[in-house]
Amino acid sequence: MTTVTLPPGPPAPRLVQGAFLLAAPQYGMRRLRARYGDAFTVNVPVFGRAVVISNPADIKQLFLAGPEVADNLERNLGRVLGPGSMFALAGEEHRRQRRLLVPPFHGRRLAAYEKIVEDETVRELASWPEGRAFATLPSMMRITLNAILRAVFGAEGTEFAELRRLLPPFVVLGSRLAVLPVPRAGWGRWNPWARFRAMRSDYDAVVARLIARAEGSAPGERDDVLSLMLRSRYDDGSRMSHGDIADQLLTLLTAGHETTATTLAWAVERLRRHPEVLRRLTGEVDAGGAAYRAATIIEVQRSRPVIDTVGRQVRAGSLRLGRWTLPRGCPVLVSISLIHGDESVFPNARAFDPSRFLGAKPDLYQWIPFGGGTRRCLGAAFATMEMDVVLRTMLRDFSLVPTRARGERWHSRGVASAPANGGRAVVHRRRAPHAAPPEAATTASRTGQEDRCAGHV
Ligand code: HEM
Repeated sequence: MTTVTLPPGPPAPRLVQGAFLLAAPQYGMRRLRARYGDAFTVNVPVFGRAVVISNPADIKQLFLAGPEVADNLERNLGRVLGPGSMFALAGEEHRRQRRLLVPPFHGRRLAAYEKIVEDETVRELASWPEGRAFATLPSMMRITLNAILRAVFGAEGTEFAELRRLLPPFVVLGSRLAVLPVPRAGWGRWNPWARFRAMRSDYDAVVARLIARAEGSAPGERDDVLSLMLRSRYDDGSRMSHGDIADQLLTLLTAGHETTATTLAWAVERLRRHPEVLRRLTGEVDAGGAAYRAATIIEVQRSRPVIDTVGRQVRAGSLRLGRWTLPRGCPVLVSISLIHGDESVFPNARAFDPSRFLGAKPDLYQWIPFGGGTRRCLGAAFATMEMDVVLRTMLRDFSLVPTRARGERWHSRGVASAPANGGRAVVHRRRAPHAAPPEAATTASRTGQEDRCAGHV
């Protein structure tokens, strides 16, 4: 029989530990690591007793363990995104689904989406005020939402406008409900689950129209992810069901919209506080280069990872991890912020220094903003392309005014953590706006969404 040995951890009651980590996640994790070492056990609501790890060797071992040893946490967004969502799937089902979804997000395909991202950026930045402070996060949220709706959902016109209105509040509500139990009865008027279901049925109706339109298009006419999903086949020749496609589209949006936007807002926040980096980046954009920008994006994600932890659950009888033996069912939380802030892994970790990644690819078990292993972020290449295009366009058309203000604090928005003041910027236009392509159907709904986004900051 295997003896379970869990790393040490605080003795405080579950609710107290939960409140502490909820109130100050990064600070709380740093304190616990300083007290107990790079592996410790917490006892928190939702997960119960969970082991937190932050040592590169343990992280590598966990990420490389097969799904039969450690797979996704049972409590995750899959509960609200639907049974076909990547987050809801495990083992063979997850592998099967990933094989269909990986190709649309890589290589040649991404180049086709660059134009969409640049057009959306130019259109959004056209409304930036000059010479007065404003939060950039709402703009970044609109750019990344619109880019996903067009590149992934293939939405235009009425469906585009409807999804822009429907999806942001739907995702916010879903991420809040993801950790709450579903009540057995009583779908009363004030029940948030009832509201969520009504939104889901509106969403399904719009997606059904998008699917019908994509199915009616000529072969080769479209290259959005929805069309690629409809054309793809599993190994046995069968197709994805329409229900699974709807769940996956919602998953891609939930996973990809806010994460990319908050990282971009952090990029603005960091660049304004590092004028020498900003100068070098602007010079590189003017000269048509990209290497320092790529390194800067990596450093923003290292120093300000918008997802703080990724989780796995032990599926084997037990899992030996470093000195510890974890029992079946034990949740394991990989702390991204702890490893990214570890001086022995990233010397001078508190400094914002893109040159640490210049000409050097990060180690994928130490630099882990996209998680790792068989569940590593499916949209990592898409997100990197998007952030690159947005920053390039912004630096080409605007100069960011540096500031000596203190760095913005972290603010959790549910899915991702954003700069608390929304990545405030003061900008001046460097050149006349590029002509943004007309988008008649989207302009009408722009104001409504702007208000909602601003409300979160
Ligand atoms: C800066 C932006 C992004 C960040 C920081 C981010 C981060 C993450 C993280 C930490 C995970 C969990 C990985 C793990 O458990 O090991 C994940 C999973 C995922 N992400 Fe992203 N993500 C970003 C953008 C995107 C985009 C743009 C998309 C798609 C359009 C996307 C789609 C997904 C999907 C589908 C999964 C689930 C993968 C699976 O379970 O196999 N993400 N992401």
